[in-house]
Amino acid sequence: MCGIVGYIGNKPVKQILIDGLRELEYRGYDSAGIAVLQNHQFSLFKAVGKLVNLEEKAKNFETTGFSVGIGHTRWATHGKPTELNAHPHLGSNSYVVHNGIIENYQELKNMLVLEGVKFLSQTDTEVIVHLFEYQLKSASTPFEAFRQTLEKLEGAYAILLVNAAANDTIFFAKHGSPMILGRNHEGETLFGSSDAALIGKCHEVIYLEDGHYGYATAQTVAMYDEKNRLVDLHFVPLSENKLSAQKEGYRFFMEKEIYEQSRVLADTLMGRLRDESIYFEELDSALFVGINEIKLCACGTSYHAAMVASYLLERHSKIRVSLEIASEFRYREPFLTQDTLFVVISQSGETADTLESLKMAKKAGLKTLVICNVDNSSMVRLSDASILTRAGIEKGVASTKAFATQVCVLWMLTLYLAGERKTLETTEIKRQIQLLRTLPAMVTVDEALHEQLRRLSKRYLHGHGFFFIGRDVFFPLALEGALKLKEISYLHAEGYPSGEMKHGPIALADPGLYTIALLPQHKLYDKTKSNVEELSARDSTICSISPLDFDKSDDHIRTQKSEDYMLEFFEMMVVLQLFSMEIAVRLGNDVDMPRNLAKSVTVE
Ligand code: G6P
Repeated sequence: MCGIVGYIGNKPVKQILIDGLRELEYRGYDSAGIAVLQNHQFSLFKAVGKLVNLEEKAKNFETTGFSVGIGHTRWATHGKPTELNAHPHLGSNSYVVHNGIIENYQELKNMLVLEGVKFLSQTDTEVIVHLFEYQLKSASTPFEAFRQTLEKLEGAYAILLVNAAANDTIFFAKHGSPMILGRNHEGETLFGSSDAALIGKCHEVIYLEDGHYGYATAQTVAMYDEKNRLVDLHFVPLSENKLSAQKEGYRFFMEKEIYEQSRVLADTLMGRLRDESIYFEELDSALFVGINEIKLCACGTSYHAAMVASYLLERHSKIRVSLEIASEFRYREPFLTQDTLFVVISQSGETADTLESLKMAKKAGLKTLVICNVDNSSMVRLSDASILTRAGIEKGVASTKAFATQVCVLWMLTLYLAGERKTLETTEIKRQIQLLRTLPAMVTVDEALHEQLRRLSKRYLHGHGFFFIGRDVFFPLALEGALKLKEISYLHAEGYPSGEMKHGPIALADPGLYTIALLPQHKLYDKTKSNVEELSARDSTICSISPLDFDKSDDHIRTQKSEDYMLEFFEMMVVLQLFSMEIAVRLGNDVDMPRNLAKSVTVE
């Protein structure tokens, strides 16, 4: 989603803001802006599109000495991605940056318009700065006006606000969207909507809780909770190790992240595989006592990982599993019982719908577990237990290695539970643990295969749509393959259970319909093959992916012969990732920052 940075200190502020925004840019990149306050004077720069455009606009702007600054990269929610709608938003002598959504903005705007306030943008955010200035007319101090403003806001927000009268101050608030405050040995104070923006610049940070708000100056930080009580500041150390991803010679982050799946899966497995059992340092088996059902809840790619787990958990751990798309779960008045373990899966740990679903489950008294890639994220902090996927920072908006590690953790969780519940023979657990050990080798990219996909991609640019089809866990993999392609190629693609094609979609079959068929040797091969033949007979263009020969397809991608369908799953996953990427490259699209998308969606 959007990214926020803030800075109070003596260094050249522009570079610090822009460097911080660069770390966050992959989260939202339709426009960006910075506002700098120095000697009661503001300088403002905004630009549409990527951060380089903002850098260009601000290239002659320099500061020396003390200043205060705020910056933002945007992913549009209200109003088009224009310069006027870009943050920071301004009042007469204040600026604000905001992540989230102000749900009652229209009501507040109507009130302010009646008071004679003129609005420049179509955003919800702009009401914050005008409301603040409106409150300032009667409030005793700017901070009091800020507090009164927050009281009137409904929705989700992380906010930084600066006002010319409070020349050395940033007002901040968090409610539903992440915000982190950091400081360093040089007496500087920084803010970021993710710690990625602060790594290397701060040695200690506070991850704000919902309802926290306050102000920071060069000398002091004062923070309050939602009941307006002063909060003790508990800073925690921040790694000084700059983990921020670099492309390391690859054309795109996505490509690099596909290639590094072998290494990150080795990290995911590290210390968790014993000869006959799975060990999660983070898990206490008490979490599963009294549990008769597992509810898996997520969005996007993480939802597809959840769906894979729904097959594995029922099959091996013999436990009832239900699947929830978080945005649906929240409003369908679900019937929740306390013998259900609520498991959320999220790369970022910040996705608004998943986070709110987690809160709902907690409120209903359910035990909760999060499978997440980001330590200290909101979901990790909120849930009873967490398992980290250890994929490292994922920058490509189209998720690849995060998905691979999620499925790996969920497979391990299945075996862990199967062991605890004694639903699999030890020999079978042992066998599957052996398979897990081979995963890093299984996902190593074969250059020859990559080259084949690069060549093949030119034949798949101009059809009227794609169907990715498969059965069992290859159905969620088909969904994920279709999602990858949609995200970065902007071509229409659907994932479908192959046995379901004859119930409607087959009507679309003609040479312009591309079928990407997942034909694993070890899972329902003959059944899936018949379904693909039905499509082939109706002249759909077929690209089959299988270790076995298949003479009814137009193109065939041969995978290795392996001993189990889960290994085939991981190998086919890599094929689908590379295939989508090569199609997007041929279409000339921005692979890492596809249009209209954001890496982490912190609005519902
Ligand atoms: C966004 C991203 C997707 C991601 C989804 C869920 O839409 O673009 O790639 O799968 O959010 O994100 P999460 O961080 O919760 O896994």
